[in-house]
Amino acid sequence: MPDLFTPLSAGDLSLANRIVMAPLTRTRAGVDGVPTDVMVEHYAQRASLGLIVSEGTFPSPAGKGFVGQPGLVTPEQLAGWRRVTDAVHERGGIMVAQVMHAGRASHPDISGHPVEAPSALAIDGETRTATGKVAYPVPHALELDELPGIVKAFVTGSQNAIDAGFDGVELHAANGYLLHEFLGSTSNVRTDAYGGTPENRIRLVVEVATAVVAQIGAGRVGIRISPERNIQGLIEDDRADVDAVYGALMDALAPLGLAFVSILHPDAAGTLVQGLRARFGGPYFVNTGFAEATTRDEAAALMVDGLADAVVVGRAAIANPDLVHRWREDLGQNALVPETIYAEGATGYTDYPTHGEAGLRAS
Ligand SMILES: Cc1cc2nc3c(=O)[nH]c(=O)nc-3n(C[C@H](O)[C@H](O)[C@H](O)COP(=O)(O)O)c2cc1C
Repeated sequence: MPDLFTPLSAGDLSLANRIVMAPLTRTRAGVDGVPTDVMVEHYAQRASLGLIVSEGTFPSPAGKGFVGQPGLVTPEQLAGWRRVTDAVHERGGIMVAQVMHAGRASHPDISGHPVEAPSALAIDGETRTATGKVAYPVPHALELDELPGIVKAFVTGSQNAIDAGFDGVELHAANGYLLHEFLGSTSNVRTDAYGGTPENRIRLVVEVATAVVAQIGAGRVGIRISPERNIQGLIEDDRADVDAVYGALMDALAPLGLAFVSILHPDAAGTLVQGLRARFGGPYFVNTGFAEATTRDEAAALMVDGLADAVVVGRAAIANPDLVHRWREDLGQNALVPETIYAEGATGYTDYPTHGEAGLRAS
């Protein structure tokens, strides 16, 4: 039975170990969406993780969801990412870009564009612009003839990621953003071929995955899903519907030969998570976190129990640049400082010490 420290091949990706850095939005890019010096250092510090998944990164200007989010659109953004990927590769790591269209979880004051979604249903809540908190707007319901443009944005963004030196991409179909919004019945009330039945609700996600595979090759494409996450007004509380939608999605993705599916769900051993794994049939990454940050023991147990091919870890990787070393040697961890997650610059971003540095500071 492999453990967390056993290498893994996932499509074209060769992971030195099975601890994957989760996609983590940290809003450290410039106003123009260009990756900054601290981002180069932050990701390079974490190169010993088996795979780094970048923070959610917008493939089109309208897909931007956060102030300080980096993009995969302009030459300057790609040049910035090239510095990040070069630094990670120099330290022996590999990295994929999480390609994320925020959908209705954005605001024109953030992206400079109308907000796009499957249906004209606003999230009941507020988002943060550069000048303060504002209510989420009622989004523009994408017309049928606009959907090819969404597919194209994911294709172009993914090709741009490869051109910027990423080893692949993770399509973001989780956490209530655009692709997830098409899957969910509370965010998608369309009556055309993209709404209603499970086959219709998965259609855009499958079209995006198929087109990105055709562009950059299946071995460099993964996808993230979060069934029953119940976030941003996207409620999936009908297990039969969830089974039908995500089961159909796995059946449609399986023949593509993707590098991986990454699932976020607390019940890794349950029939939903393991049933979807069986239907996908390829490398399966699991993240059980959120209510509590993933721990070393939980991650190890997922491997011992054979529930995942790799474990995705979020907050522990924020606070511990040398997480793999610490977990292998059981050295303990730095505590996360929540107040600095979205702080500016280096604070709480590149200043968490390795175990060795912590020892030096203490002595
Ligand atoms: C600060 C922060 C930013 C996050 N940003 C993203 C993101 O950009 N994309 C995404 O898919 N998930 C995002 N997540 C979710 C994480 O990838 C992960 O699923 C979550 O932290 C649970 O794992 P953990 O318990 O190991 O931290 C974010 C979570 C946190 C705490």
